[in-house]
Amino acid sequence: MLAKLTLEQKIDLLGGVNGMFTNPMPAIGLPRFKMSDASVGVRTWGPTTAYAGGVALAATWDREFARKLGESLGKDARARGVNFLLGPGVNIARSPIAGRNFEYLSEDPFLNSAVVVPFIEGVQSQGVIATAKHYALNDQEYNRHNASADVDERTMREIYLPSFEAAVTKGHVDAVMNSYNLVNGVHATQNDFLNLKVLKGEWGFQGILMSDWDATYDSVGAANNGLDLEMPSPRFMNAKGLLAAVKNGTVKESTIDDKVLRLLRAALRYGFLDRPQFDPADSTYSVADRAVALNGALESITLLKNDGGLLPLDPAKIKTIAVIGPDVWPAVTGGGGSSEAQAFEPVSILTGIANLAGPDVHVLYSRGLPDMNDLFRETRWDGPVKVAIYPSRDFTGTPETTTTPSIGDFRRERHGPRDETARSIRYTASYTAKQAGKYLILAVSQTWGSDFKVLADGKELQTPTHAEGQAPPFWTLDLKAGQTLKVEADYISDSGVRFGMGIAFEPDLVSEDARKFAAGADVVVVAAGFDVLTEGEGHDRSFALPWGQDALIEAVAAANPRTVVTLIGGGGMDTRRWLAKVPALLHAYYPGQEGGTAVGEVLFGKHNPEGKLPVSFDNSWEENPSAPWYYPVKGADTSLHVTEPGREPVDYVIPHVKYGDGLLVGYRYWTTTGKHPLYPFGFGLSYTTFSFSKLEAPASAAAGSTVPISFDVTNTGSVAGAEVAQLYVSDPSAKATRPERELKGFEKVRLAPGETRRVTIDLDARAFSYWDETAHKWTIDPGKFVIRVGDSSENTPLKAEITLN
Ligand code: BGC
Repeated sequence: MLAKLTLEQKIDLLGGVNGMFTNPMPAIGLPRFKMSDASVGVRTWGPTTAYAGGVALAATWDREFARKLGESLGKDARARGVNFLLGPGVNIARSPIAGRNFEYLSEDPFLNSAVVVPFIEGVQSQGVIATAKHYALNDQEYNRHNASADVDERTMREIYLPSFEAAVTKGHVDAVMNSYNLVNGVHATQNDFLNLKVLKGEWGFQGILMSDWDATYDSVGAANNGLDLEMPSPRFMNAKGLLAAVKNGTVKESTIDDKVLRLLRAALRYGFLDRPQFDPADSTYSVADRAVALNGALESITLLKNDGGLLPLDPAKIKTIAVIGPDVWPAVTGGGGSSEAQAFEPVSILTGIANLAGPDVHVLYSRGLPDMNDLFRETRWDGPVKVAIYPSRDFTGTPETTTTPSIGDFRRERHGPRDETARSIRYTASYTAKQAGKYLILAVSQTWGSDFKVLADGKELQTPTHAEGQAPPFWTLDLKAGQTLKVEADYISDSGVRFGMGIAFEPDLVSEDARKFAAGADVVVVAAGFDVLTEGEGHDRSFALPWGQDALIEAVAAANPRTVVTLIGGGGMDTRRWLAKVPALLHAYYPGQEGGTAVGEVLFGKHNPEGKLPVSFDNSWEENPSAPWYYPVKGADTSLHVTEPGREPVDYVIPHVKYGDGLLVGYRYWTTTGKHPLYPFGFGLSYTTFSFSKLEAPASAAAGSTVPISFDVTNTGSVAGAEVAQLYVSDPSAKATRPERELKGFEKVRLAPGETRRVTIDLDARAFSYWDETAHKWTIDPGKFVIRVGDSSENTPLKAEITLN
């Protein structure tokens, strides 16, 4: 087939077409191949089954479930004629505010690798190519096209690359997607180290390396540094960019041939040319898929606090249950962006609880907080708000002026012109506090390429945890009765105007219904956290709960101490204002379309919670080890000159993020420093209890050999349940400095009350190795190693020492 193609035709195969397809080549009978996002559902081609994927999958710690999820997604893909599933996302959750953690997995490379391999095998067993993404180091969303992740090799090898390595070498994934960002100053799509040396060289990747959508920046650079397919269209890897380069030898024709062969070989290997990809044996919608979706939610929901055994609830003792909060209805199945799957029939927490509670329990619902448009509309400014619209991006020139009673209502009106020209707008208003107390200021922009700042009495309100496009900023100010605040918002946009701002007395935010229902109920369930607007692709999120939610939980808990909080979001969030006041806390991550049923089953004890935190749950953003290193180093920007064939050259500013936290990501930091997060990695309660005993480990073994470790896990409580036995390895005699402990094995065991299971975990050479920076290879330093086994990174009751010779 290759021999039949001209050079031009070969180059034509290096770029995608129509957003989500590879280019067809009728001359050799090659059709176009269809793609779809991604990890939580086959979402690109209409409604679909929305699963608990990403971080929720990691919270199951269940390899077999990962395989089933992969198989279901593979079947869903076949039912839609999809050849490439653009998932799984396997990046490390370095920081809780990174906008796409919910699509990724955990903070630990071993856990990521363990679930990713069966997931990929599951997808690919259905005749669909899986795509491991985003290679590599897409650990933040702000400035994701231009920021450079500057990381030393050991940190990459030990933390950020292993899940990709496992996807390739063990899962045999047939596609990998390069990330948007730069790594050590070079865009991933043209990164020699990542793509040629490691992926295609050391790991022997035989599949297709595609770009993320518009992540390519250089024709020859991409062609010569491993990129096989530029998506969604060939802006750089096209005839204009490559023909002359091949003719003059800058790019070898054999390099182009290799890329084409990868596509052809994959097509042949998968039988894409021999059978239709649409498989009528699979269903667009099926109860089998719903069961998988429910199972994922049940297995991932993590019980973090259960004081006084409030849970499980006994329906016989409950007459009225109040279900309150912005996340109880409608269902929040996933985060925002390209993974957002529209479920056919999502079950909200409200309806899930009502279904489980049965006909004799009264269920009372309140959102508890106004919707943002109501808040903007109902803000009582002292008089009309002045609006000055400048014909520039920097408040210069003569403004058009007007007034408005309130700022922004995304449902009904837009302020200012609607064309696509650049402008800056200054809103000026004043607000007088009726009574003393805390006031919320909320500002929201919903346009691309926009920026704004808010000034109160002439001083800019600082947004330490909301910098650079994190959504949506809010501030709480203490005001005295009668105090007048002069408020000014400077908004800059070059794509229309969608901006809103409002002020509210915090205690007034919480609806009267919520307080009343809570006070009168036997138990209250609040669901708080994030959703598609506040956590998603393209922006980071706050560590604080979205506006008003802390106040809501405080008010509800004050009205009724029997309050259970369920969190929705991609990882840890700030619970400090109310955690001590609520007896029970669940983390549901993004639980997919059956999440409401799963939350109901866990609350009523129909399912014993078994999820374990796949990330350390911090008290505050500031204490997270990445916090001091998260934003670019000031004054270290470099510039990048990009010439897209047929266009004017563009210069980009490249901020550099220095990964000074190094190996100490998540629990590696906590256990090494001896400090403690709020809840440790691996932690999760159950309605039963487990014990660990009879650890057996050889006293010594040859370095490089497989070392079996055995122990007993016993269900010591009175109900059936599942425990995740976790094995951590420490290397106190290493020549290099190593994290205090690292996860190197785990096993999920389901046990009846009183039942004991003997578990054996085989530790391979990698379990004892670190990346030697000088020798550039994995190394074991012979000497003492410590094995610990337990139910979290901090609770490891079993301990043994091994000497490796
Ligand atoms: C995302 C990818 C996704 C692609 C196609 C990009 O914006 O970063 O994860 O697969 O779009 O939708």
